[in-house]
Amino acid sequence: MTTAGLILLDHGVALLGVACWFATGVTAALRRHRLAGGLLVAAVLATVARVGTVAALAGQGWWFVQEKVLLGLPLLGAAGLAAVLIAGPPLRAARQTPGAVVALLTAGYAALAGPVVTFTAGYPLRWSTALIAVSLVGAGALLTARVLTVPAAAPVGAGSPGLSRRGVLRLAGGVVTAGAGLTGVGLLFRDPRPVETGGGPGPAAAGSRATVSVADLRGPRAPAPGGAVRRHTLTARAATVTLASGTAVKAWTYDGKLPGPAITARQGDLIEVTLRNADVEDGVTLHWHGYDVPCGEDGAPGATQHAVAPGGEFVYRFRADQLGTYWYHTHRASHPGVRRGLYGTLVVTPRAAAGEPGLDLTVPVHTFDNAVVIGDREGRTVHIARPGAAVRLRLINTDSAPHRFTLAGATYRLVAVDGRDLNRPGEIRQTGLRLPAGGRYDVVLTMPDTPVTLNLDAGDGTGLLLRPAGHTGPDPARPDTSRWPELDLLHYGEPAPWPFDVRAADRHFTLVLDRALAMVDGGPAYAQTVVGRGHPSVPDQLVAEGDLVRCTVVNRSLETHPWHLHGHPVLLVSRDGRRGSGSPVWVDTFDVRPGEVWEVAFRAGNPGIWMNHCHNLPHQEQGMMLRLVYDGVRTPFADPDHTH
Ligand code: C2O
Ligand code: CU
Repeated sequence: MTTAGLILLDHGVALLGVACWFATGVTAALRRHRLAGGLLVAAVLATVARVGTVAALAGQGWWFVQEKVLLGLPLLGAAGLAAVLIAGPPLRAARQTPGAVVALLTAGYAALAGPVVTFTAGYPLRWSTALIAVSLVGAGALLTARVLTVPAAAPVGAGSPGLSRRGVLRLAGGVVTAGAGLTGVGLLFRDPRPVETGGGPGPAAAGSRATVSVADLRGPRAPAPGGAVRRHTLTARAATVTLASGTAVKAWTYDGKLPGPAITARQGDLIEVTLRNADVEDGVTLHWHGYDVPCGEDGAPGATQHAVAPGGEFVYRFRADQLGTYWYHTHRASHPGVRRGLYGTLVVTPRAAAGEPGLDLTVPVHTFDNAVVIGDREGRTVHIARPGAAVRLRLINTDSAPHRFTLAGATYRLVAVDGRDLNRPGEIRQTGLRLPAGGRYDVVLTMPDTPVTLNLDAGDGTGLLLRPAGHTGPDPARPDTSRWPELDLLHYGEPAPWPFDVRAADRHFTLVLDRALAMVDGGPAYAQTVVGRGHPSVPDQLVAEGDLVRCTVVNRSLETHPWHLHGHPVLLVSRDGRRGSGSPVWVDTFDVRPGEVWEVAFRAGNPGIWMNHCHNLPHQEQGMMLRLVYDGVRTPFADPDHTH
């Protein structure tokens, strides 16, 4: 069973246990002794089964079970055992005692505490969580006892002044419960550690090394020798745009266009883009997704610049040294900014084009409300290609969810992922390509003399039709590609040596992704969390220039998290502990599906302060973001409440 399946199964068994324990308590209270006895057996069995599911899940990694093993199960075990001992004998004798009902309901509270902790706090288990959970279960037990049993205080005039023995016990229980609860709540307000060092040295003492401001980490002002300057001015503004297919979209745009103007360059050119903001109230920036620009050009508000407010301007300059397919988008209020249209494509081609020109299409996919748009139109777009011509399709996913592409009618090769070439990618056919949010695939094929279709997702007809020049036959119907297998990038292409030995990493960070109650941008939220916290309270990752960094990304949740680090491509090392057997794969965005554990590695060779986040932009907005900070780099742009 997959880890995600085990997570679901464990949730199910946990909830079954909760239901059984409460049902036992309630039926016992109603004096349905036989039924209660049967339910007690079921509750015990569900609890034992729970031990099994947690043990199975533990085999996938401690991150998946920590709070269950350290808190949920012990609490339930203790309360369940007490319930069996206290309620078992009277139930067998078909008697009811208030103590039995209290014990059974307390086991119910303890059973409930487990999943509540899992869903509201998750990993890592903190003392505050444990103390609050124990105290709530204790409070539940005491209140139940108070409601169901004789008052603790001795009746007036009964001769013994003060409290009975039971009263003393309850008072002590109340004090312990309240003390634990208050301590737990107090601990909630401890500040999280502001940096994580990943096992490497901490920050160099202030004054012992020069520091640099991100404001000074700017790009060159001239192209490489022989290169051109590609100058653009992009003005962000609200506009109603009529797509080529006729649909009108109320959008936020760069230059009134959807997508924004395509930016292209030859390798070595200088790209210079002046961003202006006409009327996007939240402010805008330009982030060059996947392009390893100097940090000051990265467009991350609150880290590398202030967002450009209406009337403002910012000039970005960087050299187009990196070949391939990229995109740009605002990084200020990315959600909803990108969804509403603040994005465009960036493609860098070699200085000398190899061979004769074929068809080179940039294919950004975006969803506006319910209109799925390729480039600037819905539905199927037709292109003509000469049989035998080389065709390159640059697929770009600008949405927050993955897209599945299928290419029917030709064999093809996936030659580049996130702009970086694969090593000796083989021919494939009848295979689906799942493209993560924010990711890019470059697909290459030789045009046959029959039509070829590129189909999106479920195959509602959205896609491309490549028609051979001179072809007069009917266009092909939509092929049913739903059963095609999905290409596994870890096993595609041929291996090649890696530029470093990942076992010799200088730092190792672990990011555990989940949902929990946490502070996000200064307010409480049911957040998308990284190690239990929401942005900006997730500790920074500290690195020093030149470090080899390993990162383990664990998805404890039931949603996919397309993980994206700015400024550095990462090498995919392994998934669920298994290394790939194919080409090295360098990406800037990789999908971490439910229950998956990915390992990636990168060289810290681009000093700055870099955002590291989930590219499902609603998740990013709900807290799933942190920073990778180079030692000695500071930012004058901090604006802790508004950094996406
Ligand atoms: Cu494409 Cu931080 O994002
Ligand atoms: Cu996410």
